[in-house]
Amino acid sequence: MEQQDALVIKPPKRSPLVLRTVVLLFAMVCGVYICSICLKQTNIHTTPKLLNIKAFDQPCQAANIEQSEIPFVHYPNPVTFSREECACNPVRYFAILSMQRSGSGWFETLLNSHINVSSNGEIFSVKERRSNISSIIRTMDKVYNLDWFTSASKNECSAAVGFKWMMNQGLMAHHNDIVEYFKEKGVSAILLFRRNFLRRMISVLANSYDRDAKLLNGTHKSHVHSPAEAKILAKYKPTINATLLIPEMMKIEQTTAKAIEYFQGTRHIVLYYEDLFTNQTKLKEVQEFLRLPYRELTSRQVKIHRGTLSEQVENWDDVYKALNGTLYEKFLHSDCDM
Ligand SMILES: *[C@@H]1O[C@H](CO)[C@@H](O)[C@H](O)[C@H]1NC(C)=O
Ligand SMILES: *[C@@H]1O[C@H](CO)[C@@H](O)[C@H](O)[C@H]1NC(C)=O
Ligand SMILES: *[C@@H]1O[C@H](CO)[C@@H](O)[C@H](O)[C@H]1NC(C)=O
Ligand SMILES: *[C@@H]1O[C@H](CO)[C@@H](O)[C@H](O)[C@H]1NC(C)=O
Ligand SMILES: *[C@@H]1O[C@H](CO)[C@@H](O)[C@H](O)[C@H]1NC(C)=O
Ligand SMILES: *[C@@H]1O[C@H](CO)[C@@H](O)[C@H](O)[C@H]1NC(C)=O
Repeated sequence: MEQQDALVIKPPKRSPLVLRTVVLLFAMVCGVYICSICLKQTNIHTTPKLLNIKAFDQPCQAANIEQSEIPFVHYPNPVTFSREECACNPVRYFAILSMQRSGSGWFETLLNSHINVSSNGEIFSVKERRSNISSIIRTMDKVYNLDWFTSASKNECSAAVGFKWMMNQGLMAHHNDIVEYFKEKGVSAILLFRRNFLRRMISVLANSYDRDAKLLNGTHKSHVHSPAEAKILAKYKPTINATLLIPEMMKIEQTTAKAIEYFQGTRHIVLYYEDLFTNQTKLKEVQEFLRLPYRELTSRQVKIHRGTLSEQVENWDDVYKALNGTLYEKFLHSDCDM
């Protein structure tokens, strides 16, 4: 009996221990389960919050815009003015990447003749704005938020906003960060080059000469608006250092190739001054690239150097000899009006 009792009594003694363990395990499982639900719920709660912030920042709905286009469509909310009735007009960001004397000034006046384009000029010609990447980004943020004021600003109803940037104005030096910014912000790059390096060099030398000579009644002009002014500026014939000609041309070629390589990963278009000059369809292509309503673009600028190359250089024979038989010989013969 005692043994039986003991046998009978023992199991109830053991079972609370088992039960306790089971309850403990159950509680632990429950705890983990509740915690996981809590985490899930916080996730559910945070996601709509982020969406709400986005929706608040961009109250405009991108209608009829393809999925692939969405990163390039913006609704800036400037701090300096209200976009009024155009608040929900989409805005594209662009940058004209070029070199001095490659037709970018002329190209920019063409773009700015479009009622919906503001191209704000060479904003990085000012050294402090390009002294470091944070300065560059701050400047671009301001331009793309439509808070940058120049004579080219159209503001309320701008459908494309940008500026002109020369390769030697911090663009090549900070290319990694700039490409990153372009990709992140959806900035479209317009790379503009001049095919004929020789004509470009003549223009660079003449422009640099006029900085001191000031041929137009004592004022230096890089671009002119009348044939009379163009004729006066074109009177000056630069002397080109024939020894440096080939190395300089190689440098231009390398910079061009590098720029195209760096910006390959961004939304971009590559243009040549000569093509823009001879082919009206190119300007249409540019407007399509910026998704602008098509318009006839005009510029009041007049070309300074026209006609035969041999008449534009003081030491033509040296130049001819230096280029004859080289890869750059073609520049001697392209005697169309470019
Ligand atoms: C960047 O350049 C600006 C303007 O020159 C200057 O005020 C600022 O201190 C610089 N910032 C850094 C991090 O060097
Ligand atoms: C272009 O500008 C005009 C006049 O300001 C405006 O009415 C029109 O909506 C703008 N177009 C685009 C595509 O933003
Ligand atoms: C230079 O000044 C004269 C006299 O003021 C004027 O007649 C002429 O048109 C000016 N020329 C240019 C190229 O500005
Ligand atoms: C051309 O440039 C080189 C290097 O700067 C210089 O040594 C040479 O004297 C220059 N030639 C002329 C004709 O100016
Ligand atoms: C003019 O430009 C358009 C657009 O880029 C191109 O399709 C066409 O082939 C060009 N025409 C000529 C004659 O080069
Ligand atoms: C250009 O080079 C060719 C040979 O490559 C030669 O026959 C010709 O005389 C050269 N022209 C001049 C103007 O030096």
